[in-house]
Parts: sequence; structure tokens; C-alpha cells
Amino acid sequence: MVKLRLRHVGIMVMAATASSPTGIYLDNAATSWPKPPAVVEAIVGYDRDIGASAGRGGYRRAVEASRLIFDTREAVARLFGVADSRRVIFTLNATEALNLALRGWLREGDHVVTTSMEHNSVARPLNHLKEERNLEVTYVPCSPEGLLDPDDFARALTSRTRLAAVIHASNVCGAVNDVAAVGAACREREVPLLVDAAQSAGSIPIDVETLDVDFLAVPGHKGIMGPLGTGFLYVGPRVRPQPLVQGGTGTNSEDTRQPEVLPDYYEAGSHNALGLAGLRAACEFVADVTPEAIGARKSALAERFVRGVDEIDGVTYFGPRDFSRQAGACSIQVAGLDPAVVGLRLDAQYDIMVRTGLHCSPLAHTTLGTIDQGTVRFSFGYYNTEAQVTAALQALAEIARG
Ligand code: ALA
Repeated sequence: MVKLRLRHVGIMVMAATASSPTGIYLDNAATSWPKPPAVVEAIVGYDRDIGASAGRGGYRRAVEASRLIFDTREAVARLFGVADSRRVIFTLNATEALNLALRGWLREGDHVVTTSMEHNSVARPLNHLKEERNLEVTYVPCSPEGLLDPDDFARALTSRTRLAAVIHASNVCGAVNDVAAVGAACREREVPLLVDAAQSAGSIPIDVETLDVDFLAVPGHKGIMGPLGTGFLYVGPRVRPQPLVQGGTGTNSEDTRQPEVLPDYYEAGSHNALGLAGLRAACEFVADVTPEAIGARKSALAERFVRGVDEIDGVTYFGPRDFSRQAGACSIQVAGLDPAVVGLRLDAQYDIMVRTGLHCSPLAHTTLGTIDQGTVRFSFGYYNTEAQVTAALQALAEIARG
């Protein structure tokens, strides 16, 4: 049983009352909500008190903006065990981070090994590059619960494989993969590893040095509880992808070539400083509560939900039943009802917010056997409560009864 520190419980209560318009928000796999109050204050405080663009001036407030972005990079580095914070490259979201790794690293004719649970943010760039650069892509099948067998993955690696790309936790069914075992197989064969941590970062401890990952793609706005429009790619010392963009960095302005130093090589244009101010506060919040405690809370809510679903006639759960491998996203179907209809009724009649359909992950739905209709996804976050799970189960039971 994980003990939450009292002051965070206090903050939870305050956040639930101060910032809840109405309803029960269970779409945390899309973006977490609410954000910790310190995150909201950091965003507003940046705009109110600083406002300048980082690295674009020598006056004190511009220097303060640069300092804040440096501090955010350091906070991210501390949370993910990154020794050199210059290797943290800020992006708009995990999709942009994944595109930087895939488009920047892969070359003509490369072989890539990935899984049958990947999100379209990996599958679509890979398909695009298949056409553009003649890639060969191997999709290793996962189990009907969405879990990857690391031995199957290891067997798919060949001497031609230039990248392994693995989803850490499924956005559809919460299944958590053993990335340490995948990483060990990749290291043995000297294949660079890209981990999509969109659903795990912030709620599963990740240390890039221990896991030996080469690329880690992370959204700031999901499990870390930072603002939308934030994310990053960790780029390890064994890899150097091409940048996606070139442009102004506020450094070496006399030179019309992109600076080669990190992070400037990858970060052209003005930063989302408001968002990064929020991201720093979010990283500090997560570090304080700990990813273990946040993850345990989400898994416990998921377990409570699934046990309740098991008691409702006509409702089927798709995903892992080992709840230590459930990141808090639970997919279900209600017999005889289109998931979209269930979602509309949850919203209109019960004020419960969920995501329905294919969740940008047709590969995952094919693996789970739900590609025909998709599912109704209940995804839990740090601020959800047991009472909200009970309310969702009651609503589901009524909908299933017809
Ligand atoms: N990938 C996010 C989701 O599953 C947006 O909702």
C-alpha cells in the first residue's frame, strides 16, 4: 500500500474543488487533468512576471527566461536519470519527439523492429518512411492482452536492424512492456532502442542510463501532468539524428549554418516558455510524490474498475489482468452497443468523460481483437478517486442493462 503524503492529498482535494468545472474526467491517457496547482501557477506566473523569449535578449527578463528553460531541462534530466541535460530536446509532444527520432535517424533501406501495439505516432512515420526511404519494418506480435514477449522481440533483431522501437505502456489497454529486457537484447546486438514513453513517463520510474535507451520520447502533458504543448526527446550519446527543423537559436547568429551543439542543433525557433515553466513545476511535483506512488495509484484505480466490470453482465474488459502491468488505461466493450454510443451516453447522462473508438492505434486494436468497433477507454490519473470509479461502474451497469 503506497502512502500518499498528506500535503499532496490536501492539494488533491483543493484541486478537485477549485478547478473542476463539472463531471468526472477519465481521459487521462489523452491528456491529464486537472494539473497540479503549482503547474497552473507557473504558467500564469511566467506570462505575468517574465513574458520574454528565452535567449533572444540580454536584458534581465530575457536572461531569466533562458534560466527557466535551463532549469526545466535540468528538472527533466533529474527525473529521468539523464546525466547531461543538453541531451533533453524539447518538442511539442511525444509525436514530434518520435518523429525526430524516426525521421532523423533512419536511412535508405534500414531495417526496423517494432511491435503490434504501437500508436500511429510510430506506425505512421514508419509507413511514410517505408515509401520514402524503402525501409523494412518487422512488427513483432504481442499477446491478446497487449503484452510483448521480449524473447520474440530479440529473435526479430538482425545484423541489419538499425533501430528497435517499443511502446512502454499501451494507450489502449494500459499493458506495460518489459523495456529493460528489450533493452538488454538490443544492447547485446548493438541495436539502438527508441522507447515510446507516452503512457508511462511520470507513473513508471524511468532511468535512461539504467535502461540503456538511446531515444526516449515523452509528452509533458500526460503522466508528468505538465501543460499541453510540451514534450521532449532524450537523445543518447550513441545516436545523432538529423534535426527536423533549422532556424534561429539566439546563438552563433553570424553563422547561417545550424549550430552543432546540443540542444541548439535540434531546437530552432522560440520556445514554448509558458509551457516549459509549467513542465518544470510538473517535474518537481512528480519527483516529490514519486512516479512509483503515482503509478501505484493509477494501477489500483484500474484494478478496482476491472474487478467491478467483471461483475456487470454484457461488459468485457480487454487488457492485462496482472495489475502491476496495467498503467491505468482500461478498454471495454458493452455487448450490442457501439462504443461511440456508450461514450455519448456517459457524457450526456452521467457527465463522465472517456475516449471511444480506435484511439489512434489500429495496430493495438487488431492485436486485442477489437478493431471492428474499437472500445470505450477509461483512463485514470493521479487526481481520480475511488468514488469516481464507483460512479463510472454504476453508470456502465445502467447503460449495459439497456
Ligand atoms: N494518444 C492519446 C490517446 O490515446 C492522444 O488518447
